[in-house]
Amino acid sequence: MLEQLETQYKDAAAALEQISDSAALAAWERDTLGRGGWLTGMLRGVGQLPAEERAAFGKRANELKVALTGAYEAREELIKAQELARNLEEGQIDVTLPGRPRPTGGLHPSTQTLRQFAHVWADMGFQVFRSREVEDDDTNFTLLNMPPHHPARDMQDTFYTTEPNVILRTHTSPGQIRAMRELGEDGTKPIRVILPGMCYRYEQITARSEIQFHQVEGLAIGRNIRMTDLKGTIAAFARRMFGADAQVRFRASYFPFTEPSMEVDVECFLCHGDGCRVCKYSGWLEICGSGMVHPVVLRNGGYDPSVWSGFAFGFGPERMTMLMHGIEDIRYFWGNDLRFLEQF
Ligand code: PHE
Repeated sequence: MLEQLETQYKDAAAALEQISDSAALAAWERDTLGRGGWLTGMLRGVGQLPAEERAAFGKRANELKVALTGAYEAREELIKAQELARNLEEGQIDVTLPGRPRPTGGLHPSTQTLRQFAHVWADMGFQVFRSREVEDDDTNFTLLNMPPHHPARDMQDTFYTTEPNVILRTHTSPGQIRAMRELGEDGTKPIRVILPGMCYRYEQITARSEIQFHQVEGLAIGRNIRMTDLKGTIAAFARRMFGADAQVRFRASYFPFTEPSMEVDVECFLCHGDGCRVCKYSGWLEICGSGMVHPVVLRNGGYDPSVWSGFAFGFGPERMTMLMHGIEDIRYFWGNDLRFLEQF
């Protein structure tokens, strides 16, 4: 038995020396030191030996087990080192190669202006209300105090659809009606929202007019809202947008859905009022239409005009972006020309 142990030991030790990969090493471990391995089996069989042989055999078997375990661990380390070296050799990468840059996208100039708008208005307590681009004629016109055949409809050439009464909105003002009806709780709740979005007009496309453009509508409804609130709010917005010393002026104007109505000019931020090509030597740039919400519109939105009042305004962010960046042709905005878009 002892002899067999010595022979098996010699064979196993010799086999171990020949092993050069971790799969073969694992097999060797399983057959030798593992729970079903021969050495383990022999150690387990000590009890079967005649009593006088047990001690000597057990001692020797344990010695050999220690020796084989040591040899196995040394072999394992060697093989790991060899495999690592081989991996480094075969999977060689050149860390000095220049990286491949990831192209980064950019925000469309209109998106940038719209975000700036939303940010400034949010600071003044105005939430964003999303209204639909596909409107019905009633909401786009009639409920805004422009009944069929009203001459003001001529100012907004309309895209009609084959569906009667379904049109593309010509301005964001129909959103006033929707905001009042959806947020007003039957004319009992105040409102402070902006309504940004795309508008469509059936117009000749020129350097100054596109068939699609953004507007940012604003609407505030409450008790005791007055024109001074409108003026102060717009002036505060202009100061945030164009600088603390921005001057604004209000000109009387006409919109069917506001009364009184005003157009707002800001002092030209290019020439600071001296007069230049951009402001057509007037020193002023028109930035929005505005006014006190017409009683008819309040009523159509569910509010009692003898208790509630409000103001509304509408900005054209593309116009404003053009002025701020000196863009001379509105057609660049939806032309998808990267040479234009990548400048922002
Ligand atoms: N909707 C108007 C336009 O498109 C602008 C406007 C909005 C005027 C709100 C007054 C109040 O020209």
